[in-house]
Amino acid sequence: MATSEVQRGLEDVVALESRICFIDGKGGRLIYQGYDIRELAERSTFEEVAYLLWYGRLPTASQLDELRQRLVKLRTLPPPVLEVLDRLPTDSNPMDVLRTAVSTLALFERSETQPGASSIGGAQRLTAVLPGIIGYIQRRRKGMAPAGTHPELGHAAYVLAALRDTPATELETKTLDVALILHADHELNASTFAARVTASTLSDLYSAVTSAIGTLKGPLHGGANERVMELLDEIGQVDRVDPVVKAKLARHERIMGFGHRVYKVEDPRATILREWSRQVGEAHGDLHYYKLLRALEAVVHREKGLYPNVDLYSGSVYTLLGVPKDLFTPLFAASRVVGWTAHVLEEYEDLRLIRPTAQYVGPVDLQYVPVAERTG
Ligand code: CMC
Repeated sequence: MATSEVQRGLEDVVALESRICFIDGKGGRLIYQGYDIRELAERSTFEEVAYLLWYGRLPTASQLDELRQRLVKLRTLPPPVLEVLDRLPTDSNPMDVLRTAVSTLALFERSETQPGASSIGGAQRLTAVLPGIIGYIQRRRKGMAPAGTHPELGHAAYVLAALRDTPATELETKTLDVALILHADHELNASTFAARVTASTLSDLYSAVTSAIGTLKGPLHGGANERVMELLDEIGQVDRVDPVVKAKLARHERIMGFGHRVYKVEDPRATILREWSRQVGEAHGDLHYYKLLRALEAVVHREKGLYPNVDLYSGSVYTLLGVPKDLFTPLFAASRVVGWTAHVLEEYEDLRLIRPTAQYVGPVDLQYVPVAERTG
């Protein structure tokens, strides 16, 4: 049998060409369609970044306004989808509910499920509708009244209004907007790859996003920020950071929120979120998590030389914004849906079935024994 080297986890394998996102792992830079994430986080909005990722250029004022209005119009969930969601157990994993909702929505929006350039309509529809689904999950299990579609609100403010009844401050809205921008795309991460694999079979965009949600659900991809919050609660106070981290490292446990497959320096998204975590913490008069995280960074760097990744600060930011832990990953999906769909559109433009091969390591030439004659 021919042998070739297997790259476990496809590490360092260049699978395709893309114009959407560039990660400079050594320089600690993240670029969307040519624009540095630091500048986008400072000066842009989630809607503008969505336009940039989908269309490959920044919008004019009227194009941006048009997109904003379209996203607002697309927020409503069809009643039959809500009926399906109402039948699901209230203690379901929110990522399972989100996946089911997108999959169900496809059955009611068949015109959007034709693969090809027209999928931009589906991309905008899913981006507009995901916050409402997440809000629905939270409100249903908490017995809260439905949120409505809030046509007066921009995307980030709508996400917060969907989730909670207390009005968001300008700082809270800007913080969430930045978090959404930072999570919107990240090259060929596992869920984006899953979306592209699905699209590469000429399947539709809703199926691709359903695959992506299922892939993001795994704790090795989405969900590390939830684990960071569990760790912070386990640590409890700054003087316990050192012994808890040392004990975990001695047991060869991973410290969540540190290390990255691509970044060999600090993840630029962590640098940006650290500052927003401090600002929201100060505004809330609650720097508990921020102080723990700063201490944690120092100890982990000293002990292992590891740098923070985006998940280190995102959980504390979401907690201060009133987002419960099990909705962190759905919130990640509500942002990454832009990246998934941008990649699916790119896939449709230059489609090639993604189908790698495996190095066969099993036996050949075994003799078939009839079932009655098998002994063990
Ligand atoms: N805590 C402790 N040790 C670590 C960690 C960590 N968080 N990350 C890497 N290491 C060690 C690892 O044990 C290994 O040490 P040794 O060589 O002594 O065995 C060395 O660093 C290399 O680890 P690796 O698993 O080969 O590195 P990787 O590039 O495959 O890992 C990672 C990347 C993200 C899976 C890993 O850093 C990790 O498990 N981090 C914790 C989980 C986490 O924060 N995930 C979120 C990632 S960012 C999400 C995104 O970009 O969307």
